Amino acid sequence: MRESSNQVILLTGASSGIGKATAQWLMKRGFRVYGTSRKVSGVNGGQPEQTDASGGFIAMIPLDVTSDESAESAVKAVLEKEGRIDVLICNAGMGIAGSIEDTAMEEAEKQFDTNFFGALRMIRLVLPVMRKQGNGRIIVVSSVAGIISIPYQSMYSASKFALEALVEALRHEVAPFGIKACLVEPGDTRTGFTSSRIIAEAAGEDSPYSSRFRKSLARMEHDEQNGASPEAVARVIHRMILRKNPPIRSAVGFGYKAILLLKRILPSRLVEKLVGMLYA
Ligand SMILES: NC(=O)c1ccc[n+]([C@@H]2O[C@H](COP(=O)([O-])OP(=O)(O)OC[C@H]3O[C@@H](n4cnc5c(N)ncnc54)[C@H](OP(=O)(O)O)[C@@H]3O)[C@@H](O)[C@H]2O)c1
Repeated sequence: MRESSNQVILLTGASSGIGKATAQWLMKRGFRVYGTSRKVSGVNGGQPEQTDASGGFIAMIPLDVTSDESAESAVKAVLEKEGRIDVLICNAGMGIAGSIEDTAMEEAEKQFDTNFFGALRMIRLVLPVMRKQGNGRIIVVSSVAGIISIPYQSMYSASKFALEALVEALRHEVAPFGIKACLVEPGDTRTGFTSSRIIAEAAGEDSPYSSRFRKSLARMEHDEQNGASPEAVARVIHRMILRKNPPIRSAVGFGYKAILLLKRILPSRLVEKLVGMLYA
């Protein structure tokens, strides 16, 4: 593995929120960051667009994680420049809200295409590269909602639960090749996530779930917009790059670590009641 100061990072969802903050955070600490997203302004052929006195930089590359072709060409662009990828950070994601009954199959599929299959696609593309290198690190941004399922965000929660399962298995499979994988679990964080959230088309006024859904959505939006800074998540991601043996899961912030601990030790009936009081 290279010295941390010149490691090559491939980061998805770097145009906004947690990804943008992580790109900045790592650049300032000397990392060579290839940030990606669908909307990339001033694409510069993988040339650094921002540089730092530490020697770090951010170069933006267009990538839609739901497309094989786009994912392949983004990985190729990094390899052409650097010949290696030390760290993949699967961060790109979005949320679809609405009751299960109101969420159409296409909407559910869209949720999984981005959050789950998008991360899986990137992981499958970098694994052969990391295996040949004999090392590498994969950090997947999950969520507290990947451990506790939230009503009216079930598709989002399910996509994050699926990521948790993926990484649990991945760690075993790739350890013999010197590759380490882990999950970072933010709670509510102030980002563009809230305004980008897609509301299920059938979740309008006519829905029998309408009033409860609206109340729950207002709570989610309020908590996100008053949540942690994206830099708090960037700090944890940085720590997971540096740690010799990153733990499988790292929740972001003391409050969320405590909530996840309570989920493990409290009777499920009580946990269900608490979630219902907050979101149902
Ligand atoms: N904010 C929270 O409260 C919170 C809590 C827990 C977990 N998270 C997780 O944190 C991660 C980052 O979200 P955020 O809060 O920073 O939200 P955000 O500000 O909306 O950023 C999302 C990023 O993902 C990119 N993206 C979305 N769809 C994409 C696609 N199909 N292909 C490539 N890039 C795509 C977006 O860029 P383009 O639109 O330009 O493609 C953007 O850069 C997500 O995985 C989210 O689930 C967020």
